[in-house]
Amino acid sequence: MKIACIGAGYVGGPTMAMIALKCPHIEVVVLDINEERINAWNSDTLPIYEPGLLEVVQAARGRNLFFSTDTSKHISEADIVFVSVNTPTKTSGIGAGKAADLTYWEGAARMIASNSKSSKIIVEKSTVPVKTAEAIGKVLSRNCSDPSVQFEILSNPEFLAEGTAIQDLMKPDRVLIGGSDTPSGRAAIKALKEVYENWIPSERVLTCNLWSAELAKLTANAFLAQRISSINAISALCEETGADVQQVAHAIGTDSRIGNKFLNASVGFGGSCFQKDILNLCYVCETVGLKEVAEYWYQVVSMNDHQKNRFVERVIGSMFNSVKNKKVAIFGFAFKKDTGDTRETPAIDVCKGLIQDGAICAIYDPEVSPEMIFRDMSTPKFEWDKPNYTKSASRFLENVLIGSSAEDAVKGAHAICVLTEWDRFKDYDYKAMYEQMSKPAFVFDGRNILDHDKLREIGFIVYALGKPLDPFLQKVY
Ligand code: NAD
Ligand code: UDX
Repeated sequence: MKIACIGAGYVGGPTMAMIALKCPHIEVVVLDINEERINAWNSDTLPIYEPGLLEVVQAARGRNLFFSTDTSKHISEADIVFVSVNTPTKTSGIGAGKAADLTYWEGAARMIASNSKSSKIIVEKSTVPVKTAEAIGKVLSRNCSDPSVQFEILSNPEFLAEGTAIQDLMKPDRVLIGGSDTPSGRAAIKALKEVYENWIPSERVLTCNLWSAELAKLTANAFLAQRISSINAISALCEETGADVQQVAHAIGTDSRIGNKFLNASVGFGGSCFQKDILNLCYVCETVGLKEVAEYWYQVVSMNDHQKNRFVERVIGSMFNSVKNKKVAIFGFAFKKDTGDTRETPAIDVCKGLIQDGAICAIYDPEVSPEMIFRDMSTPKFEWDKPNYTKSASRFLENVLIGSSAEDAVKGAHAICVLTEWDRFKDYDYKAMYEQMSKPAFVFDGRNILDHDKLREIGFIVYALGKPLDPFLQKVY
């Protein structure tokens, strides 16, 4: 059997590497139009940072795992074609700022149609709006010149999270396969199920109809993000009442109906999926006339924006209502730990908010390059996915410094803002950092990972998200 995957990104690369590792009898080729990305996959400096990924790639690459830009050859030879291209939020036209931009998906479908001389199973790996399979089916059937070629479309959404992709792929809670309830649909589901059953117990491979699989993916992300917005909403109330959000989260999380995962209050959720997929869900609801349902889910995104704004206001308010010309050390720019990904990271909005008030942000992240930070800080909302983007002059860039280390970022700073929960941030010598900072020195822990009592003993004024407020933090009006 031969598998091709269109899209060698955060999903296509790791998922195909895992299939190749676990199925040595299957040839897996990952394809991309981005030559630089493919070259990186063929090197030992992979294009994405993901713990354990290099080892998996090295075990299979050259054996039955290949990365290539030769799309026509490998699509033509494949029995199963996964499509794992980006499906960002539309930035212009109808549905701008909400609907999914399916340009890349349509491009991939046209590429499959024009390069197919034999029937194939087409697997939607990208997250797409409900009913995409129907639309893509039309693009495929109308663009293939050989009428004997049949395409069977399956929806097989990916549930991995960045930073834990390898363990998520190795032992997923479930794999979901949606397909048509026809003889050829059932045969396609069986063929894909057999691939996964090489390492995943069959009871964990769930099957359903196409539309349920497509909608389940949007729903899963909406539910996960909703938990974060819910606990973040409570974090604001905790600060006003003297309750401690971690104690509240623990108390509710021990109720088995609620569960204890995904209850960490934070400066806001980021990443390429949550916001995009909820907006997409809202757009689908609006399109079918379900205005109230759309409004309900939209609140999850609004609360997330509120949490980022609230954090910025807290920093500025605590620092005597002005951060003009004050250096603020930013610890962490990635949207979560153990990834270098900055797509929709809350750090962008927080840094922009602080800079708008005149702060100089000295940013340090162990996995994010200065080039990426400059690009993010000068890119308008939703525009991060534009491939032809060129760095433009932005007023934000004048106030951005890149710290070569955390120690470098804190020199002369008035405050430290922890925006990503990197483990290494817990182990720094904060006493030595305190000596290097302007006084009073503040710590704003947007991830609640530091030892706040110890920081207070050193002399810091500490804001811990969702926790009783340090008296010194009261706003100056
Ligand atoms: P990505 O941007 O990292 O990768 C997509 C790749 O597709 C890019 O390298 C791009 O060059 C390539 N591409 C686009 N059009 C192409 C074409 N016609 N031919 C060949 N290559 C093409 O995106 P990603 O983060 O891997 O996400 C892919 C999909 O998976 C999205 O729909 C996303 O919502 C979904 N998803 C992402 C995650 C995640 O954690 N990132 C998790 C689950 C699902
Ligand atoms: C998410 C889903 O978890 C995954 O199943 C889906 O396939 C893709 O989208 P990802 O965005 O990679 O994965 O990371 P995730 O761990 O979900 O974190 C998303 C954001 O929420 C991060 O910014 C993270 O810091 C934040 N978060 C997560 C919290 O603020 N609190 C939490 O308790 C959990």
